[in-house]
Amino acid sequence: MPFRKILTRFLLVLSCALSSSSIAQAAPASANPTLTINAANAAHEVSPLMYGLMTEEINHSYDGGLYAELVRNRAFLDDAQQPVQWSVIQGSGSAATISLDPQQPLSEVLKTSLRLEVSRASAQIPAGVANSGYWGIPVQPDTRYRASFYAKAAPGFAGALTLAIQSTDGRTVYARAQVDGLTGQWKRYEAVLQTASDVLPTTQARFTLTVDQPGTIWLDLVSLFPPTWNDQPNGFRKDLMQMLVDLHPKFLRFPGGAFLEGSNINQRFQWKKTIGPLTGRPGHAGLWGYRASDGMGLLEFVQWCQDMGAEPVMAVYAGYCCDDTHVDPGPQLQPFVQDALDEIEYVTGDAAGTRWGAQRARDGHPEAFTLHYVEIGNEDFFDKSNSYDGRFAQFYDAIKSKYPQIKVISSVGNENPLPLLVHSRAPDVVDEHYYRAAEDFIKMSPAYYEAYARNTRPEIFVGEWASYEDPKTKPWDPGSKSLPRTPNFKAALGDAAWMTAMERNSDLVVMNCYAPLLVNVNPGASQWRPDLIGYDALHAFGSPSYYAIRMFSTNLGDECLAIAVSASSVQASATRDSRTGEIFLKMVNPTPVGESLQIQLDGINSVQPTATALTMAADPTATNSLDHPTAVIPVTSTVPDVKPLFVWHVSPNSISVLTIKTR
Ligand code: AHR
Repeated sequence: MPFRKILTRFLLVLSCALSSSSIAQAAPASANPTLTINAANAAHEVSPLMYGLMTEEINHSYDGGLYAELVRNRAFLDDAQQPVQWSVIQGSGSAATISLDPQQPLSEVLKTSLRLEVSRASAQIPAGVANSGYWGIPVQPDTRYRASFYAKAAPGFAGALTLAIQSTDGRTVYARAQVDGLTGQWKRYEAVLQTASDVLPTTQARFTLTVDQPGTIWLDLVSLFPPTWNDQPNGFRKDLMQMLVDLHPKFLRFPGGAFLEGSNINQRFQWKKTIGPLTGRPGHAGLWGYRASDGMGLLEFVQWCQDMGAEPVMAVYAGYCCDDTHVDPGPQLQPFVQDALDEIEYVTGDAAGTRWGAQRARDGHPEAFTLHYVEIGNEDFFDKSNSYDGRFAQFYDAIKSKYPQIKVISSVGNENPLPLLVHSRAPDVVDEHYYRAAEDFIKMSPAYYEAYARNTRPEIFVGEWASYEDPKTKPWDPGSKSLPRTPNFKAALGDAAWMTAMERNSDLVVMNCYAPLLVNVNPGASQWRPDLIGYDALHAFGSPSYYAIRMFSTNLGDECLAIAVSASSVQASATRDSRTGEIFLKMVNPTPVGESLQIQLDGINSVQPTATALTMAADPTATNSLDHPTAVIPVTSTVPDVKPLFVWHVSPNSISVLTIKTR
């Protein structure tokens, strides 16, 4: 992240942390800790979009993450000088060289191919190329891998190409296939590689393409996919999708984050270059230090939403980049406004009657998607030129005049009271971001949103938030690089306290999503911590924060009930499912001291004598990892003797959800 942006963020966070530290609530020592729920009437509705996901290409979230492609640098564009991630396979008795060849482009945008020149090879000692994947190729037993590639050969080569998934030393072949019939013209080839049922899972593997006779071959768009979610071509990794679906996300914010803005205007997210056949997608230099293949393009994002039953919250590039440059509002900005209108049309337009809807149909998705929210830019509070007001107004007017039903989100949030918001047009929603130390979230959560005015200000989308453990090691501090990529239970306590605050105030806070969502935990793969879900090529795990969010998002209901907490350190929220009468009482005890908490249910006619408790309690330093993926997870138990007034023993350092049946 550019230095100026980092410095500004540091000052912003520091001032918020200082101003919030006075809000801490101390429990009087003498009185009985009591939590009273007013169940007679709902205080307000719970926003139906309360919990969602935020995503961008950071930490190898897509390439080397959710996007199931296993071949890294498949189009040979990651480095202009070398075919990085590719190596020559040769032995004593075979010889080959590889190089980038700009003279043999596959397409107008895939301008470089890989030239493989084999001077000696035989069936016993083949020669070729190997791809090391994203920190290995994941080998699973009894699995079908789909390979595809474009190839052509120089005159004189008539041999076959052998594709294999093999150990990194080449001694063990896990799966193999052959293709032949290469000609002098580019052509696409496909093959299936099947592993045996007794193969042991490993990431210590590579993908190889070899020949058994001399010749010259060109390769491009070399691809290998394991089985994907819903078996979709160009699709998503199944285990990660399952973890996301298990969060019951109601929306997906994409494509960033700072990834939307880019480090300069040429490196912004240009959606038109991310649609259609992969041969037409050049990819681009992402903001976070590595090239994005854009195999996860705009259509894949909305498809991803559909797969999860979530709605898109689409951010459009708004003329500001992470190098702190902006496009002036007015005629210079107009092409970008038009680009956003085209983008909305691509997602929502009729296949028969609109240009971009028709394009979406040609790209394989005739049905229009539903889109209720569009965000203008990302974190434009970093733009100190005061151009956002004009830029926002120009986007707002254009979008509202064509799509009056769309709610337009301002990326300038984190401002209370309202007069500090400078907008010529009143945004429907403002996006607030909070990266805070767990202890700061714990201090600020009891009263933070309660202090916001109602009815005179836009709704709030907390579009990025996360707790980190050590106040001295913020996500953007260099010191954070040496820490585990996913947070420990201390952070989950801060996160859970913050979620109680957002739930209690969900009349105002209509959407929220943790960020970043995904991290490849291999050394060097990530740029930011903490992150919610960690993985390597083979395995994935949820952080304690992941489980905390899941506890909250899957036990929500549609009504918020007023609560009062006295003489207690517990932070809480209570919601109810109006159809079933179930009350979900969420409690966070961020202290090392347990409590016998009297729970008083006011205004109920009846209550079932047993309730269900979902509890996650651990030492604050405890955490999950690839090796110990479930060290900290919630456990279910039965709560006996539930009455209109009953006692719940709150464990030290715990997050719990009681499901109380009132019918
Ligand atoms: O979530 C990581 C980054 O934090 C996002 O890209 C950006 O919006 C914020 O600064």
